[in-house]
Formats: sequence, C-alpha cells, structure tokens
Amino acid sequence: MSQIQHSIREYEPKDKAACITIFNSNVPEYFCDAEREEFIEWLDKEDRAPYYVLLDGDLVLACGGIYEDAEEQMTGLAWGMVLYSKHKQGLGKQLTLHRLELMEKLFPHYAQHLSTSQHTEAFYKKFGFETTECIKDGFGPGLDNCKMRKEVKR
Ligand SMILES: CC(C)(COP(=O)(O)OP(=O)(O)OC[C@H]1O[C@@H](n2cnc3c(N)ncnc32)[C@H](O)[C@@H]1OP(=O)(O)O)[C@@H](O)C(=O)NCCC(=O)NCCS
Repeated sequence: MSQIQHSIREYEPKDKAACITIFNSNVPEYFCDAEREEFIEWLDKEDRAPYYVLLDGDLVLACGGIYEDAEEQMTGLAWGMVLYSKHKQGLGKQLTLHRLELMEKLFPHYAQHLSTSQHTEAFYKKFGFETTECIKDGFGPGLDNCKMRKEVKR
C-alpha cells in the first residue's frame, strides 16, 4: 500500500465535476445510478456539514464529508468515495480518519453513524463501526443498505 500522504481540503464548487466523475467510476459496483441526483443535491446544499476532497497535486482522487443531525444528537460519515482506479491504495483510510477526527472535534457528544453497502461494510468495521441493520436492496437492486454505528466512549 502506498504511504504517500495526499492533501485534504474543504470542497469548493469547482470540484463538483471531479466528484461526480468519482461517483460515476463507482457505478454500478458501489453506487447505483438512482443515487447520483441525491449526491449532487448534497454537494450543492449550503447548510450541510463540511465536505472534503483528497488531492494528488490538483487532481481530486477522493471525496467525503460528515453530517450532523442536531435533533437526534447524531453525526456520521457522508458520501465517502475514492476514484475506482485508485481503490486499495490507502486513500479511503486517510480521508476516513480525517473525517472521524473532525466528528470528534465538532460533535464530541454525538453518536456516530453511517450507511453503506454490503461491499464496504467490512471497511468501516476496521474503524470501530458495527452493523445494526442491513436492508436488502436498500440502495437499489443488488445494493443493500447497511446501517452502522460506532460506540463512542465518553
Ligand atoms: C470504501 C472505500 C472508500 C475504501 O477506500 P480505499 O481507498 O479502497 O481503502 P484503503 O486502501 O484506504 O483501505 C484501508 C483498509 O481497508 C481495507 N479495505 C478497502 N476496501 C475494503 C472493502 N471494500 N472491504 C473491506 N476492506 C476494505 C484495505 O484492504 C485496507 O486494509 P488494511 O489497513 O488492513 O491494509 C472505496 O472502496 C470506495 O470508494 N468505494 C465506493 C464508494 C462507497 O461505497 N462508499 C461507501 C460509503 S457512501
């Protein structure tokens, strides 16, 4: 696995096309077509929690953010993805650790959640998340919605 540390900065509107390319590169194995509009809405949303891009020089190779649900006192990982051709090179881990640190900093008392498919459930288990429920075909045909939660020690 590559040990190169790529830079991470907050998403800017100029990154939108690159993020959509990353999304598209993961269809149909990890995302289904029907989720694209929802992802674009998330990118465009003005009142969401921060979203990030991971770069190699000027090239956006991965993106991902966090969400906040103040009413439910919940935070979580949102729309994390690595360009398909760059999977398994440590980028997903780098961006996930960055976001988990941020969640701890911004929302230290909130429960931590995420939803992912059966193909990436094991990835998030490595960061301490446990599956609470898996809804068959929850994201679309062949893509289950696995809900995960991390026990946060206070
Ligand atoms: C999930 C995802 C972000 C992982 O990114 P990645 O850059 O390939 O992962 P890394 O190379 O950083 O892997 C870190 C560790 O997780 C493991 N891993 C990577 N993908 C995995 C997977 N799908 N299942 C289980 N383990 C996985 C690696 O082997 C590595 O293990 P190690 O630390 O023991 O060596 C990537 O597969 C992806 O973008 N998927 C499509 C988008 C998606 O489904 N996102 C889910 C939330 S919306």
